[in-house]
Amino acid sequence: LASVEVDVSSLTPGMSLVVKWRGKPVVVRNRTEQEMKDGEAVNLAELKDPLARNANLPADAPATDANRTMPGKEAWIVMVQVCTHLGCIPLGQEGEFGGWFCPCHGSVYDTSGRVRGGPAPENMSVPVFQFISDTKIRIG
Ligand code: FES
Repeated sequence: LASVEVDVSSLTPGMSLVVKWRGKPVVVRNRTEQEMKDGEAVNLAELKDPLARNANLPADAPATDANRTMPGKEAWIVMVQVCTHLGCIPLGQEGEFGGWFCPCHGSVYDTSGRVRGGPAPENMSVPVFQFISDTKIRIG
């Protein structure tokens, strides 16, 4: 399927779901206040990958927390949950930065899915998506 529609009405803050899109797992997470704060507080100079990797933005957009989300929907992370090292599936809400942890070779990602340690070279990618209503997201 070129695009999938996802009902996110059941996701209260701190909950995620994963859907398959083009054969890949895409995580949709309604972040907690703390996760958002942690993501916003990061000094961009500390990032291994300075780019947002967000298909909804220009390729050179910087990896701010906001640029990993949608304007007005900053609580939400929609992201291909595939490690940018060798393609394993990172575990959610694990690891040093409270984001994702890849069990294969130890890459760690923060609460907006930006790589913060380990061998992964890039932030996990944000696919083309949009909110088609307050409770529905279309990916692709
Ligand atoms: Fe994730 Fe290697 S595949 S760290």
